[in-house]
Amino acid sequence: MTRERIVDGRPLSEVDETFSWSLRPKTLSEYIGQKNIVEKLSISIQAARGRGEPHEHVLFYGPPGLGKTTLANVISHEMGTNLVATSGPALERTGDLMGLLTNLEHGDVLFIDEIHRLPRVIEEFVYPAMEDFQVDFLVDKGAFAKSIKVQLKHFTLVGATTRAGFLTAPFRERFGIYHYLDFYPPEEIAQIIWRSSRILGIEIEAPAVDQLAKRSRGTPRVANRLLRRVRDFAEVKRDGRVEEQVAVEALDLEGIDARGLDELDRKFLHTIIEHYGGGPVGINALSATLNEEADTLEDMVEPYLLKIGFVNRTRQGRVATDRAFEHLGFKRGSRQKELF
Ligand code: ADE
Repeated sequence: MTRERIVDGRPLSEVDETFSWSLRPKTLSEYIGQKNIVEKLSISIQAARGRGEPHEHVLFYGPPGLGKTTLANVISHEMGTNLVATSGPALERTGDLMGLLTNLEHGDVLFIDEIHRLPRVIEEFVYPAMEDFQVDFLVDKGAFAKSIKVQLKHFTLVGATTRAGFLTAPFRERFGIYHYLDFYPPEEIAQIIWRSSRILGIEIEAPAVDQLAKRSRGTPRVANRLLRRVRDFAEVKRDGRVEEQVAVEALDLEGIDARGLDELDRKFLHTIIEHYGGGPVGINALSATLNEEADTLEDMVEPYLLKIGFVNRTRQGRVATDRAFEHLGFKRGSRQKELF
């Protein structure tokens, strides 16, 4: 089953994309959070610039919506080069990639999102491009088929994936630099919301920012999306100013609770508790009971629940923690809700 979730870290629509582009930082100094990555990138960028070389190939991994695409843009901006963006599923034939590669200038950044979904033939086609900046391109078919070597300009490949384990080891090893993006703490999400509000001219008060920050599940893209919903609500139902009460009402209306969980997260936890006695339960059993793809659960639901300590992963399967029981109003060891 596919559904739209306001807390989805992936872009939901063109409007959503356009909106978040206008808010994306373009330089490292504008970038809020991920301090360690920003510091390391600042060094690798300055070093490459100092040597007059392209930046090394970089692999970003981590849950969706945390800034992988933004950082690819920041790298090209800071290097003073162009960015060409594509994604694993968009590249079906080697020819698709060939066109992109041959148009790259020295130092340009080729960004491949969802790089773990690159077809195997293209992955292998990319290896010599990454290592020697040349590709063997097959022209013609059958008896006339011949392979020609095409020299490319020295470019930087920036890959993004939700889980580094999805990539084959030889592919992973061809990246000189890896950065893992983790969820942002609420204080950093709050700073991002202040910045976005300033850019968009939204009048918002501090307790409302805190409410949004707590419910954005550590994900800037979700924070900016919730901010937009709250602004609409404030404009239609009130005088446009975003006060705490307005933010809470708007977020409640969206089904986002005080910890940022939506209906699917709560259903996930309810299923572990009510159907499987709190766990352990395997992801495939959960997937069947919830009628959701196991991959969706593993990529879109679990990471945040693991992060906030509502779920543990054990060898036997997933377990709901005391915190999850408490948050949903269950007594530990009971499948009955406590009567209040
Ligand atoms: N907008 C989205 N992500 C951001 C970040 N990390 N810093 C500043 N603004 C952002």
